Amino acid sequence: MWVVLLIIASIIIYLIKSGWLDILKKTYKRDLRAVHRFTRLNWTLRCWQQRQLTVVKRFLEVTKKHPEKVAFRFEDDVWTFRQVDEYSNKVANYFKQEGFVRGETVALYLESRPEYVCLWLGLSKIGVVTALINTNLVSDPFVHSVQVAESKAIIYGSGYSETITNVSKKLSGLKLYQFHEDLKKPLLNGSVDLRAKLEESSPNYVKDIAEGKTRDKVLYIYTSGTTGLPKAAVITNVRYFMLTMGVYSMSSMTEDDVVYDPLPLYHSAGGILGVGQCLLNGLTVAIRKKFSASNFWKDCIKYRCTAAQYIGETCRYILASTKDDKEHDGHSVKIIYGNGLRPQIWTKFVTTFNIEEVYEFYGATEGNTNLINIDSTPGAIGFVPRYAHLLYPVALVKCDSLTGEPIRNENGCCIHCKPNEAGVLFGKINHKKAFFSFSGYADPKATQKKIVQNVFKKGDFYFNSGDILEYDDYGYYYFKDRTGDTFRWKGENVSTSEIEAVISNTVELKDAVVFGVEVPHTEGKAGMVAIVDLTETLNINELSEGLRAHLPGYAIPLFVRVMHSVPMTGTYKLKKKELRDDGYDLNKVTDKIYFYNSKEKQYVRFTPELYEKLKEGKLSL
Ligand SMILES: *[C@@H]1O[C@H](CO)[C@@H](O)[C@H](O)[C@H]1NC(C)=O
Ligand SMILES: *[C@@H]1O[C@H](CO)[C@@H](O)[C@H](O)[C@H]1NC(C)=O
Ligand SMILES: *[C@@H]1O[C@H](CO)[C@@H](O)[C@H](O)[C@H]1NC(C)=O
Ligand SMILES: *[C@@H]1O[C@H](CO)[C@@H](O)[C@H](O)[C@H]1NC(C)=O
Repeated sequence: MWVVLLIIASIIIYLIKSGWLDILKKTYKRDLRAVHRFTRLNWTLRCWQQRQLTVVKRFLEVTKKHPEKVAFRFEDDVWTFRQVDEYSNKVANYFKQEGFVRGETVALYLESRPEYVCLWLGLSKIGVVTALINTNLVSDPFVHSVQVAESKAIIYGSGYSETITNVSKKLSGLKLYQFHEDLKKPLLNGSVDLRAKLEESSPNYVKDIAEGKTRDKVLYIYTSGTTGLPKAAVITNVRYFMLTMGVYSMSSMTEDDVVYDPLPLYHSAGGILGVGQCLLNGLTVAIRKKFSASNFWKDCIKYRCTAAQYIGETCRYILASTKDDKEHDGHSVKIIYGNGLRPQIWTKFVTTFNIEEVYEFYGATEGNTNLINIDSTPGAIGFVPRYAHLLYPVALVKCDSLTGEPIRNENGCCIHCKPNEAGVLFGKINHKKAFFSFSGYADPKATQKKIVQNVFKKGDFYFNSGDILEYDDYGYYYFKDRTGDTFRWKGENVSTSEIEAVISNTVELKDAVVFGVEVPHTEGKAGMVAIVDLTETLNINELSEGLRAHLPGYAIPLFVRVMHSVPMTGTYKLKKKELRDDGYDLNKVTDKIYFYNSKEKQYVRFTPELYEKLKEGKLSL
């Protein structure tokens, strides 16, 4: 008896002394809720796997439940679940008759609209995999994307027919189907008028659906990756379930919510996490052709949305473009979910627009390292209770801050990070469990590069996310950097995201990217920032003061490029690679460029004379 009491007492004393009691007090509510929701998620996924459900089969269940409910809203059109089902049946029946068979791939290159979803859903009904091609790609990157997925055919929108014409020589052997968004566009020679064919096709039930298995491929989705050409990530039914249900089950969303999805449908955010809520859970989803910050609230009001998606910088653009309270008056969005809401604007966004819940998540399209923030803690991308690391095998591993290469100890093992220590995120690969498997890319070589072996034990395998994160005492995770986003200048390591954070606090609501550029006659790379100044209100002196106040001298960007328009990727991130390639080359860049004069401690206009001096190594840096 006494012994037991003694043990309990010493455990309590230990908990108090080590600070654990404090931690538990702060986090038990979050953790209980997480356990409840995660169990629900795990249960759903397990049932669906056991029943060999596929996205298509699940969609049929949802449709059967409420065929006349609105599935998609698009411009002024309304698509019911029955209509989506019938249209996708037409697609399935037509392509079957065209000779396509299970396992083959068709590339889809079309603007966002309800038919986009019907096309890939229909192909999936006969087991054909759809490669969702980024509509910003043209010429060689376009051809590469089509070929890396071994596509047998391309379905393209009339609006993109120029891309097809330009590369037609490289597409020999591929069947071409032109889908008219705009009925007036002429049909390209050698292409089939898909829209007309589908009108004649049968909307009847497709028997092949029954043959689908949970582990079958549904889509290829391309991830831009930090280097090189787009990689096609494999999206199986399980993965589609996991990503969609991960957000749905971990949040407080219900079937009655209406989701606003203005994101491109060829990315996992718009095409899985957005559209998936309709297909798998029966929610109404409003789709938009192209994201527009100034129409965000108008649309949310028009479609009576209760939840909305964001990604990357969209929140910043929405904040910046909403000048008048009346613009968002009367919207009913309570929940927002997405990835990339920056800590600097988080609180301002939720208070300005009266948002109740933010579900910021972290997870690569293809990876097995998924995290989600379920209690709207500003800035956090998710959490893992510190006592639950064994149950949820993601690990932060100490790494070289420049290359992101994991550091190994004398036994050859990687080293776990402690709280508030930055490290690269690894996810343990376990092919038996849906959550922790890694489906890889269409290209096996690309898959191998992301897998690390013998991490903590001989023979274990981890997925290397390439992202540098940090966690705090309570187990909340914060994004720090993507590996390769650090450069060295004057012998110091400079983190681009730290500078970006300072800039966004100094000149509020301006979007900025920082990168390193080479300077002749110097070692390492100098910092350069490209700032988007749509309103032309940037005060360059204010910027240099802000930077001086918050950054060590070596971290102050040597160059500032001021842009009045936004060159962006489909994910609404600035195109870092192109900006870096342009650098401060006055022959390539017509935007204003400033140079940091370290003696005067302020920015001056970077003129051709300064450019010449710099090239000759005559400028003091
Ligand atoms: C097609 O080629 C023309 C001529 O080279 C070029 O100007 C145009 O930008 C190209 N368009 C696309 C969409 O590739
Ligand atoms: C398409 O084919 C028609 C008839 O075969 C021909 O007159 C026309 O020049 C062709 N157009 C192109 C762009 O090749
Ligand atoms: C910068 O990073 C390199 C490589 O990770 C490391 O060896 C070096 O010590 C770091 N330097 C500083 C000043 O932190
Ligand atoms: C659900 O949890 C059980 C027990 O922890 C585990 O064995 C199973 O793999 C999990 N299901 C999924 C789909 O991960």
